[in-house]
Amino acid sequence: MELIGAIDQGTQSTRFCLYDANAVPVASAQLEFKQYYPHPGWCEHDPIEVWESIMVVVAQCMERAKEALGTFEVKALGITNQRETTLVWDRATGKPLHNAIVWLDTRTREIAQRLSTQLGDKGYFRAVTGLPISTYFSGVKLRWLYENVPEVKAAVEAGTCMFGTMDSWIIYKLTGGVNGGEHVTDVTNASRTLMMDLASKQWHVPYLEIFGAKPAMMPEIRSNSEIYGKVKEGLLAGVPICGCLGDQQAAMLGQRCVTGEAKNTYGTGCFMLLNTGNKIVPSSHGLLTTVAFQLGPEKAPQYALEGAIAIAGAVISWLRDQLGVLNTADESEAVARLVPDTSGVYFVPAFSGLLAPHWRDDARGIIVGLTTYSNRSHLVRAALEAICFQSREVLDAMRKDANLDAVKGLKVDGGATKNNLLLQIQADLLGVPVLRPDNQETTALGAALAAGLAVKFWTEAQIFRSGSAKRDEFSPQVSRADREARYAKWRKAVQRSLDLTD
Ligand code: G3P
Repeated sequence: MELIGAIDQGTQSTRFCLYDANAVPVASAQLEFKQYYPHPGWCEHDPIEVWESIMVVVAQCMERAKEALGTFEVKALGITNQRETTLVWDRATGKPLHNAIVWLDTRTREIAQRLSTQLGDKGYFRAVTGLPISTYFSGVKLRWLYENVPEVKAAVEAGTCMFGTMDSWIIYKLTGGVNGGEHVTDVTNASRTLMMDLASKQWHVPYLEIFGAKPAMMPEIRSNSEIYGKVKEGLLAGVPICGCLGDQQAAMLGQRCVTGEAKNTYGTGCFMLLNTGNKIVPSSHGLLTTVAFQLGPEKAPQYALEGAIAIAGAVISWLRDQLGVLNTADESEAVARLVPDTSGVYFVPAFSGLLAPHWRDDARGIIVGLTTYSNRSHLVRAALEAICFQSREVLDAMRKDANLDAVKGLKVDGGATKNNLLLQIQADLLGVPVLRPDNQETTALGAALAAGLAVKFWTEAQIFRSGSAKRDEFSPQVSRADREARYAKWRKAVQRSLDLTD
């Protein structure tokens, strides 16, 4: 039996999944790894621990597949990963020069502000890269490493520094590391750095200089579906690595979003992407313009408008870990269902500032509308609503940027979408149907689809034809007046969060 493997290296955990010829998962394994919070607002990953987590899940999953299927062959391997998370390593030793700086880390606030002032505009990079200046993107994280870690500066000046997002690091390690490992990235991950020209799909050299980078330390930018190299050793030795996409773009492919379709993935954060086809649509309402996918080196890329929300599932983890009002994240649905509404409580979880459509690093979290009547159920329900209100802000911006009159439905995926109440609230607050596929793990699936395509395991037509899988549909059940009244209150709460600046 021939299978396709996919590594999904996310913010909180690493997964490995094996798919059969019908793109049905036959085995999987998942492992959480350590988050480092050395200062308030900082978040790091140890690249070696991340690499080791991959080895663990690959071994577990291969064992499970063996038990289930007996013999099998892994034909191809796809990679998908948390985007923007930035790391640098040494060409001579293959060792990381610092922990990876995670996408939601806000240590670069001062650098982002400085650049906005020096360049005269937060939107300085937008025309070329599609992105505003923000702590979120890799370029500012690289600049921070260059300015604050002497070893990094020395390696950059000596020409021994290698830059990468997580995908680059994983492919480099899989293909041999210091012994001839490939130094590549893909168009979707590169489009999150503030350094790639969206139209040419190449590094924009003047911007490299701004972020302290030199062309020789940058990975080669490749399409999402082509052979980047082969796994050098271990259980997957010899398997071609031939699919690579940032996780949100992978989910978009896993959901088979064609031009005009949007998906929303609910993970640590929440990421809504609208496929705009071959058109690079600039945003004037606070969204990002990014690459959706390019399914082969000779293929034209498809682009997307994206609304990135930093805190979604993370607000439920916060209620569990920091406030202790939940024992498990799964409990959030039952606890929120104990009350019919939030009784006027609004919760803006701006823990890392607010990303789309506000782009305010200085916003801070607030809970408003409390009375002595308020209880933990109201708070948990307000947290679920917050995820949905933030998504509403993004969909409204998308409608304006892309001139969409009617959105037929929103495809959703990610761990939190097993929460039926969350999806009902989402449909109510958007006023459009919310569509959940049978298999909500669309991220790893997208990487597998891209990898299988590169080795002709399936064709592009087959990929998109098989996308009409059965879906649960959540339809809006509140009146327009109710929806708009609640949304107006949410906007007032957001304004207060923005007013809490230093
Ligand atoms: O842009 C950040 C995003 O790629 C992280 O996704 O699923 O790891 O939280 P996730």
